[in-house]
Amino acid sequence: MYDYLIIGSGLFGCVFAHEMKKAGKSCLVIEKRDHVGGNVYCEEKDGIHIHKYGAHIFHTSNTAIWNYVNQFVEFNHYVNSPVANYKGELYNLPFNMNTFSQMWGVVTPAEAAAKIAKQRTAIQGEPKNLEEQAISLIGTDIYTKLIKGYTEKQWGRSCTDLPAFIIRRLPVRYTFDNNYFNDRYQGIPMGGYTVLIEALLEGIEVRTGVDYNKHREEFNDIADTIIYTGPIDAYFQYRLGQLEYRGLRFETERLEEENYQGVAVMNYTDRETPYTRSIEHKHFEFGTQPVTYVTKEYPTDWKPGEEAYYPVNDDRNQTLYRQYAALAKQERQVVFGGRLAEYKYYDMDDVIASALTAVKQYQ
Ligand code: FDA
Repeated sequence: MYDYLIIGSGLFGCVFAHEMKKAGKSCLVIEKRDHVGGNVYCEEKDGIHIHKYGAHIFHTSNTAIWNYVNQFVEFNHYVNSPVANYKGELYNLPFNMNTFSQMWGVVTPAEAAAKIAKQRTAIQGEPKNLEEQAISLIGTDIYTKLIKGYTEKQWGRSCTDLPAFIIRRLPVRYTFDNNYFNDRYQGIPMGGYTVLIEALLEGIEVRTGVDYNKHREEFNDIADTIIYTGPIDAYFQYRLGQLEYRGLRFETERLEEENYQGVAVMNYTDRETPYTRSIEHKHFEFGTQPVTYVTKEYPTDWKPGEEAYYPVNDDRNQTLYRQYAALAKQERQVVFGGRLAEYKYYDMDDVIASALTAVKQYQ
């Protein structure tokens, strides 16, 4: 008999298991995939860590969480500075003085601000959709070249059919600063996320390749408390219906060259290129290997049974989630946590913070 059965070995499950073990409790972690780590898992090839489930950059302004992860692994000094590629024209992101100078040849912040102010007037009154909202915030040129195609590929819908609230604010800087995140700390774990995950799971019994929802009878009496980090609708056998996600498909290639695109993250912002991003993994770790791995990221319409990436923030799904959450509250000795069980987009620092809160609550 264990104190805790932890279902899922993503960051939520690993942090919970680590802290409980430290407190002297016994834990068993079961994981449906054939590897631990959830979506932060990296596969190593030719000395390069490939972010198998999408690019993961650790960033936080929470000093306690930064210190927490640094106990287990050292972080490098990677700063995310993606580049947008619009039909071969390159622009720095996020929108800053470099972008404005590349777009219009302006030199001073005042010139850039005047250009944007003039273009914003193309929309009068309350924006009726995402297109109008974006233009009212940043003007027509940046919307057309850097937002429209990318957003339409991401959502699989035209910007005129998407609600305005999706873009409430757009990060705009009138400085020459290409650092994507505003957070105080950022970096990539040296040796990849696997080092972090292995350190968290040290000394904890883990069984991979086991889907809890298919083998419940084996596990139901094995622990006092269950920590469930899988999809909440799957736990309840989809009895109220299925929650929807946006999907992603990754195509990874090994290339016989040292440096393919000169940056870790390149966004393809035109509508015609079918992928949204091209990730050259070695640049996350300043790799100097003679070969490289590049992953193209294709947004897809998600189908049940596929990997779930982004929850859909619409009324149907949020209402359905709340109904499942009400059922979850009635489950005795089961804690639901993490991005799938809470049907929520969580950054890594937030999911760690949430697991630490759960530890305090259920210890
Ligand atoms: P996670 O999904 O990692 O783990 C859940 C685990 O449970 C999985 O391993 C799953 O296989 C397992 N499981 C599910 N059902 C099970 C069952 N029935 N039985 C057994 N096991 C089961 N954040 C950030 O801070 N910076 C970034 O750059 C990014 N980038 C990024 C890119 C993309 C494409 C996405 C989708 C997300 C990000 N994130 C991110 C967010 C980050 O991925 C997220 O915060 C963590 O992975 C969440 O960890 P969890 O443990 O909640 O879930």
